[in-house]
Amino acid sequence: MLAGHDTPAMADPDLFSQVPSAEAQIRELRRSLGYHNRLYYSQAEPEISDADYDRLFRELEKLEAKHPEFHDPNSPTLRVGGAPISGFQQVRHAVPMLSIDDVFELGAEAVASSGASCPEQELIDYYRRLQKNLDRDEVAVTIEPKIDGVAVTLLYRDGKLAYAATRGDGQTGDDVTHNVRTIRSIPLELVVQNGHATRGASRASVTDASIPKLLEVRGEIFMPNEAFAALNNERDEAGLATFANPRNAAAGTLKQLDPKVVATRPLAFLAHGLGAYEGPVLETEHAFHELLSRLGIPQNQPILNASNLAEVLAAVAQINHDRHALDYGTDGAVVKVLNRAERERLGFTSRAPRWAAAYKFLPEQKETTLNHIIIQVGRTGVLTPVAELTPVLISGSTVARATLHNQDEISKKDIRLGATVLVEKAGEIIPAIVKVIRYPEGAKPFSLFESVGGKCPSCSGPISQEEGFVAWRCTNFQCPAQAVTHIKHFAGRKALDLEGLGEIVAEALVRNGHCQSPLDLFSLSEDSLANLNLGTDDAPRRFGEKNAAKVIAALEASKRKPLHRWLFAMGIRQLGESAARELARLHRTLSEIPDSEILAEVLRDTRTDAKKKNEWLAKYTITGDVGRAVAEAVVSFFKSTAGQHALVRFAELGIDPVSENYLPIAAEADLSALPLAGKTFVITGTLSMDRDEMKERIEAKGGKVSGSVSAKTSYVLAGEGGGSKREKAEKLGLAIIGEDEILKLLQG
Ligand code: IVH
Repeated sequence: MLAGHDTPAMADPDLFSQVPSAEAQIRELRRSLGYHNRLYYSQAEPEISDADYDRLFRELEKLEAKHPEFHDPNSPTLRVGGAPISGFQQVRHAVPMLSIDDVFELGAEAVASSGASCPEQELIDYYRRLQKNLDRDEVAVTIEPKIDGVAVTLLYRDGKLAYAATRGDGQTGDDVTHNVRTIRSIPLELVVQNGHATRGASRASVTDASIPKLLEVRGEIFMPNEAFAALNNERDEAGLATFANPRNAAAGTLKQLDPKVVATRPLAFLAHGLGAYEGPVLETEHAFHELLSRLGIPQNQPILNASNLAEVLAAVAQINHDRHALDYGTDGAVVKVLNRAERERLGFTSRAPRWAAAYKFLPEQKETTLNHIIIQVGRTGVLTPVAELTPVLISGSTVARATLHNQDEISKKDIRLGATVLVEKAGEIIPAIVKVIRYPEGAKPFSLFESVGGKCPSCSGPISQEEGFVAWRCTNFQCPAQAVTHIKHFAGRKALDLEGLGEIVAEALVRNGHCQSPLDLFSLSEDSLANLNLGTDDAPRRFGEKNAAKVIAALEASKRKPLHRWLFAMGIRQLGESAARELARLHRTLSEIPDSEILAEVLRDTRTDAKKKNEWLAKYTITGDVGRAVAEAVVSFFKSTAGQHALVRFAELGIDPVSENYLPIAAEADLSALPLAGKTFVITGTLSMDRDEMKERIEAKGGKVSGSVSAKTSYVLAGEGGGSKREKAEKLGLAIIGEDEILKLLQG
């Protein structure tokens, strides 16, 4: 148990001389995790270490798996994302979600042509209308940054998150509760805080009565700038299309049907408005913000005050200056009448309230020259073009480079060397080329392929553009730019499972010139491994004798690992786990594969008449895992220089991995050895052994393991817990078995 002072940890069992019930333990753990979550994400003041948090989390996970009867959709364990949904339900908003009218900062041309006296003319007109409508000179307003995100509403009933929805058409929106639950800074249950205002005072002894019966909070979900940059980087590396700006990234993420994907994307939320409400009267905007603080709901900041035109203009200018330091994109400032009674007097137009306006800033854009395009090779071999620019100052920092993402992007904008380009910062952080202004004489369209002479700039290996991907990629298995990725994959749990050989060691091996490709691992001496420096020159850190011995032993043992693991470990493109297993079913050893008649026939077969049944192939009943794309990738890999080199190394090392599931013609199978042949299993809940291990055991006996329950499922193996899959299996009337039964089936 934690030694936290006011930590709402579990009641001491000895105190009552009885062990708390599972339900009480679950309740306490949920409360405790919620509390620490708030400290970490909303207040950035954690009281316990990450490891302690994880321990509590796992404890709760275990108890919940054991006691599915205490399921609660707001449990902190569901922050990692529940089951995927098939589509969005619609929510009718309790109070319509209106938009606000925009008033624009005017560019020089607009000022000249409209006869306006300054860029802020529309804002001045807006404030004058407020003065007129309220019939007074001093109208108190607040001014805050306009967050460039996705509008959502969070509805809390009795302090519990009932649902979260997007704006939609203002009357009805999409129910995005499943995705919003994964956003850690959003409280799932409201708890009265010792508040920002009263922080430092003793923990408030406020009762639940201070939590409004009904509270609908409106705000923006957004992706923080740095997280956006990292996500786009990752997508560039994976050869996927990038998001144009943080707003698109947030919107695209919220539209995901699989909350597990959403949980991996760092979204955040800030509140800025109130919808339906039943609770103590809130007279001003400030009273509303105090309520948010008290309940630990993250809110938009700063909120500036003004009560005359000069102050409004000064506040707007200040926000325009300060917004560059915020960690999210802003494109304006929102001006709101402070007093709620005055807001009511002003009322609404058909679209929007008269008491608020969004002052939209012109994005800061500058012209500069694109001097050069360099091509970087990422860790997965993706070639990324990067523009080198004559440095310019934009939105508070110097911009000298801008990623061009890929050839498609270059072609779309028709970017050419030497062009004068217009540059801005997407979401105020990522430098981006908006468009070309003019070309120098004779400039030609830029071809990434030609600029690198059709070769990888890192290793001179072949490059190719895969179907369905926008990126060019180096396909050389030995490319040093990809060495770390390959070695990491080779040593991974699902590949050769080389204990002690993780990313840090792989990086050090490549950095110090010991390895250029995974097979080089087998030439390492125990001595050189022990002396490997995992740190830097200034702060060296030796890998050490004990670790070195462990890795050498793991490498030795890997030589006897089955063929499918080796095939997967080699990191051949297109070749996933299932395809590797299927290839291993069709071939006895690795050395059979480069000259495989079966693969040659798969290629021939799909090249000619696909509809004509190929009898020679039919007897192999090849699964969809090995189709044309896989056959081509495997055959061309072994023909490539890298593949040939690998084969030579295999021969030198005397390694020729053997299939453990060789059974090319299933009809000839000795079925007694494969009692599970033709059966499909789905595993759900917690088992006493690792799921992957169970999967291997089922597959070794001829069974298949699938991730989703369908009418084709033969058995659902349900461990403890196992919610939705178990329910679906029950609905479909499928056989649900436990661990005892599967062990019997495995014995045949
Ligand atoms: S107040 C009645 N404050 O911008 C609506 N909105 O373009 C009052 N937005 O619908 C909205 N930041 O989704 C408000 N600080 C902020 C905002 C903000 C972003 C969004 C909001 C609004 C849209 C209008």
